[in-house]
Amino acid sequence: MEHRIIDDLGAMQQKTLAQKRFGKRIGVVPTMGALHEGHLSIVRRAKAECDFVVVTIFVNPVQFAPTEDFDKYPRTLEHDLELLKPLNVDLIFTPTEKNMYPAGYDTFVEAGSLTKRLEGECRPSHFRGVTTVVLKLLNITSADAAFFGQKDYQQYCVVRKMAADFNLPVDIFACPIIRESDGLALSSRNRYLSSEERTQALALSQGLKRSQCMLEAGVADVKKIRREIQAIIETSPLAEIEYIAIADPLTLEELTVIPNNSHNIASQRHFWRYILPENQLPRAVVLLAVRFGKTRLIDNCLLY
Ligand code: PAF
Repeated sequence: MEHRIIDDLGAMQQKTLAQKRFGKRIGVVPTMGALHEGHLSIVRRAKAECDFVVVTIFVNPVQFAPTEDFDKYPRTLEHDLELLKPLNVDLIFTPTEKNMYPAGYDTFVEAGSLTKRLEGECRPSHFRGVTTVVLKLLNITSADAAFFGQKDYQQYCVVRKMAADFNLPVDIFACPIIRESDGLALSSRNRYLSSEERTQALALSQGLKRSQCMLEAGVADVKKIRREIQAIIETSPLAEIEYIAIADPLTLEELTVIPNNSHNIASQRHFWRYILPENQLPRAVVLLAVRFGKTRLIDNCLLY
């Protein structure tokens, strides 16, 4: 495995460009390490879709505000490599901060309205850092396809929009959220939760489930659904809600009523091609951000 780990940007670019010349389709899975089954499922999807797969591991300083957990963010490279071993990826890219952002580095991607709401409101400089590093990683790995988790749904939408607006010849995929058997969405930050906080954090997936049931029962009034999710989360005394949003799944604009989307299917096919296995289009997305003590969790679900 050792020989497959590369930290040099130029060497990575040369290796992947060479594979491209052989006609290989290159898939990249950008991560910040602290890998778990959610990441591994994304890598498996990349392997199914591409001939040559690169996993990148880089805790990107530019997407953390000075008040956030950059220094504390878990760095578990050895364990990550162990987890990746059986998946047999082609290359693992572990660049240093100095090489990604050398002295004098001064170019950033400023994405538009999608980055201003929800996560963007709570973490104003976050997406500027994400789009900047993702664009760099796509270029360095010569990617034809890039794979993200639906867990960071807004990030997926923002990256897709960047790829479309910059005419990047890269397909942007979202892979399903992986949950523990009790419903908790896998996240590198779950390890910060105390056992009490972890138990209470189950309210997130319970709230999301309830929203699906309500819509199935014919409740399309967003206020009613949001109130119900809020009530479920508030049964957890440690939960501090940052937002509960029920939004259009493409624009992330908040809805008042969940529409019946059937008229719009054809125009949306291209977007959903990379995210949905079934031939059914979501009518809305529910997005949550909730703090438990010092840990901030996000979760979401698509509503049909
Ligand atoms: O989702 C993440 O882990 C990060 O935001 C990403 C996409 C790897 C960029 O640093």
